Amino acid sequence: MSPSTHLVVGPGAVGRLLALHLAAQAPVMLAGRRPLPVRQTLTTPEGESRTRQLVWLDVGHLPPLSPAFLHLTTKAYATEEAYETAMRSIPASTALVLWQNGYSVQPLLAGRHEGPVLCASTTEGAWLAGDDGVVHAGRGVTYVGDLDNRHAGLCRILAGSLTRVGLEAHAVDDIRTRLWHKLAINAAINPLAARFRIRNGQLRDRPFRVMVDRVINEVAAIMEAEGIAAPDMGWHRLVWNVVEATANNRASMLQDVLANRPTEREAILRPLLDAASRHGLVSPCLAGLDAPFGGK
Ligand SMILES: NC(=O)c1ccc[n+]([C@@H]2O[C@H](COP(=O)([O-])OP(=O)(O)OC[C@H]3O[C@@H](n4cnc5c(N)ncnc54)[C@H](OP(=O)(O)O)[C@@H]3O)[C@@H](O)[C@H]2O)c1
Repeated sequence: MSPSTHLVVGPGAVGRLLALHLAAQAPVMLAGRRPLPVRQTLTTPEGESRTRQLVWLDVGHLPPLSPAFLHLTTKAYATEEAYETAMRSIPASTALVLWQNGYSVQPLLAGRHEGPVLCASTTEGAWLAGDDGVVHAGRGVTYVGDLDNRHAGLCRILAGSLTRVGLEAHAVDDIRTRLWHKLAINAAINPLAARFRIRNGQLRDRPFRVMVDRVINEVAAIMEAEGIAAPDMGWHRLVWNVVEATANNRASMLQDVLANRPTEREAILRPLLDAASRHGLVSPCLAGLDAPFGGK
């Protein structure tokens, strides 16, 4: 098998986006729980359609494989199961790449997996267009790193491969901080937008604005206690800039609630609430958001 083979487990928006890009330069296999058409179409942010034939595999019945990278692109709540299933068929030393938002599976699998565990934090935007297509809604940047900074070379190799196929990526030595910063943004926007079923921009209005600011204050206190450096622009500016830039968007958690799918609420709020309790902090707004609000 080619040393640059990629196995992508979780054939959703990010998984197909990744597979359809990487397939331009390297052997790619896409594995999931249910059959998908092997011909998949990528619609670019410019509206062009590109169709490619992918190798599709049933994750529950993988042949013995030795990919260079095992990308897990499921939602955070499904990642552990996908990992356990895929690892029945691939060597324990395989490099794992985690694409999830939040900060739940990253420390969990970094502590469990024998091989290198890389984390990818991406601002690429994608959504599924049925079983045979994915829309690349907006170009972003992907940062690749590992929590203990032991695999800088591998991070550079992966970032280089992604960049060459049109997904701008950089290897970084502060992925933990970046994951927490993204989690802070998601915690301030997603649960409120989902609970009140509003677009991101409506968070600027009363009564939501004050709720967002309270959540940011709680998140900032937790981050300080946890030793996560604040962004240069400060937590409030960081969050409000994203609200402005995504004013017309429905947050992913809201989309999940509207579609009656499970949400990533736990992967986003649990790490914050656990850190708060470790440091003896009281976070009533975050705790209040950590309750079911529709979806599953
Ligand atoms: N979409 C974006 O623009 C974006 C951007 C940045 C970060 N992210 C993050 O990337 C992660 C993936 O998001 P997404 O939007 O790509 O989610 P998604 O479209 O819901 O895709 C998840 C995929 O995982 C599959 N899956 C679930 N359990 C599985 C299992 N046990 N084995 C194999 N496959 C399994 C699902 O298949 P079924 O059809 O069988 O359920 C689905 O195809 C999330 O953590 C998200 O927060 C997404």
